[in-house]
Order: sequence, then structure tokens, then C-alpha cells
Amino acid sequence: MASSSKFAWIAIAMFFALFSLKHCQAYYLTPNYYDYACPQALSTIRTVIRDAIAKERRMAASLIRLHFHDCFVQGCDGSVLLKDTPWFTGEQTALPNNNSIRGMEIIDAAKRAVEAVCPGVVSCADILSLAARDSSEYVDGPTWTVKLGRRDSTTASRDLAEADLPIAFENLDVLIGKFAKKGLDAKEMVVLSGAHTIGQAQCVTFRNRIYNETNIDPGFAIHRRRGCPSDNAGNGNLAPLDPVTPN
Ligand code: HEM
Ligand SMILES: *[C@@H]1O[C@H](CO)[C@@H](O)[C@H](O)[C@H]1NC(C)=O
Ligand SMILES: *[C@@H]1O[C@H](CO)[C@@H](O)[C@H](O)[C@H]1NC(C)=O
Repeated sequence: MASSSKFAWIAIAMFFALFSLKHCQAYYLTPNYYDYACPQALSTIRTVIRDAIAKERRMAASLIRLHFHDCFVQGCDGSVLLKDTPWFTGEQTALPNNNSIRGMEIIDAAKRAVEAVCPGVVSCADILSLAARDSSEYVDGPTWTVKLGRRDSTTASRDLAEADLPIAFENLDVLIGKFAKKGLDAKEMVVLSGAHTIGQAQCVTFRNRIYNETNIDPGFAIHRRRGCPSDNAGNGNLAPLDPVTPN
């Protein structure tokens, strides 16, 4: 009796030790996550991101959006980076992403750079999170502390991307619903949409709005029609989302 209850206590203790270890690795994010395993991680990533934006200013916007599109599908798990495989169709060809998301090669370059200093330590999901912060900081936007320790997904889903990501022509109720599904309220949606103060949009995403809709500043609509013909020509023509501070 005594020895079997002792055994039970040891078993219970081992269970909780293993459980909390797993818990710690899988779920606990902290800004100091790489301090011991890869102290150079954050500066290495920042250098790659800053070099990319110095070469092409728009990349700051593209990397912020890439992080958003990663997080809205299965959480911030790097799934947006995965190409199609025989087992799943990835997110990159989903309607809101196809011919639209940019900057994957910059994340790849940052991953290569951290692999060179600490192989197998830093997740792509964390690199995406840091890249968004570093981008905002570099273009004099807000900055924030990034909690780290995300694990990378081994799967991705085009269907989930099409269901969860907002689409240009959706109305306010639908958009509020999509953010609510991620635990974000209408005010948080509006605040996050402030990211549109930088970056570019393709004519195909705003054509209907500038030719057919009336709840838009008429001067702005007429101005935008110049670079965006009403027929299907020029679908990919770019215009700044915010003409005042495009960079
Ligand atoms: C509220 C719902 C949202 C909708 C419907 C939406 C839609 C769009 C569309 C249609 C574009 C242009 C894409 C293209 O033409 O290829 C765009 C660009 C962009 N979006 Fe959003 N977006 C939303 C929210 C957000 C959020 C929450 C963020 C980040 C926090 C964000 C960041 C950006 C950025 C930075 C760009 C410019 C990207 C570039 O120049 O490469 N958007 N968005
Ligand atoms: C994505 O874009 C490519 C190139 O424009 C196009 O050929 C393809 O059909 C698109 N894929 C989807 C799923 O819409
Ligand atoms: C305007 O709306 C009509 C009716 O929905 C549509 O057929 C047409 O293609 C739209 N025009 C543009 C430029 O989006």
C-alpha cells in the first residue's frame, strides 16, 4: 500500500513535470525567448529587414500585411509561407493573397541569415512577427515589443484563408464579423486598418468603388480613375492606399 501510493505520487509528479515542460515550449511567449539560444537573432533579422526596405520602400507595408495575413489563418504560425504540397493547397493562391501578398523572399532571406548564426532555433512565425515590427519602426510608424516562441505550422489551408481573410469588396458587417472571429472588436479593426496609411493597392481591388459607389469622396474617386480604367485593362495598376503618406 505504502509503496504503491509512493509510486502514484511519483507518476503524478512526472506527469506534471512533462506537462509543464511541453506547456512551456508550446504556449508560453516571451520577448526574451531567444536570449540564450540565439542572442543575435533580433539584430540579424532587423538588418535584413532594414536592407530590404532601404532597397524598396514599399516592402515595409508588404511585410506588415504579410504578418497580418499569416495571423488571420490558423494563428501566427508561418502558414502563409508554405507552398502547395501533395497533401494540402496552401494560402498563397487564396483570393486575398494571389498576386497580392509580397515579401516572402525577404522572410526567407532573414531565415537564412539566422540559420547561419544559430541553426534550427528561430521560427519563421517569429521572423514574420519581428519583420512587421521592424518595418513599422523603420518607416517611423509605431513600435512595440514582440513576444516570441511561436512554433511553425506544418500545414496550411487555402480554404481557411478564403474564409477568414477580409476581401476588398466586403461590407462593414462582414468585416466586423471576420475580426470578431479572431477576438478583435470593431475599434481594434479600425485601429489596425491604420496600417493602410502606407502601401499600395491594385486597380482591380478598388475599381468598383471609384466608378460605381457614391459613399466616397468624389474628388478622390475622379483622381483615382486616372490610373485605373473602367474596363479590365490595368488590373494590376498601383495606387497608394493613402495619397498623403504613401511611404
Ligand atoms: C479591415 C479589413 C481589410 C481589408 C478589406 C484590407 C484590404 C486590403 C487590400 C484590398 C489591399 C490591396 C491589396 C492589393 O491590391 O494587392 C490591402 C493592402 C494592404 N493592407 Fe489591408 N486590408 C484590411 C486590413 C488590414 C490590416 C488589419 C492590416 C495590417 C495591420 C493591413 C495592412 C495592409 C497593408 C500594409 C497593405 C499594403 C501592402 C503593400 O503595399 O504591399 N490591412 N489591404
Ligand atoms: C492566381 O494567379 C495566377 C496568375 O495570375 C492565375 O493563373 C491563377 O489562376 C490564380 N489562382 C487562383 C486560385 O485564383
Ligand atoms: C458597376 O456595377 C455594374 C453592376 O453591378 C457592373 O456590371 C460593372 O462592371 C461595374 N463597373 C465597374 C467599373 O466596376
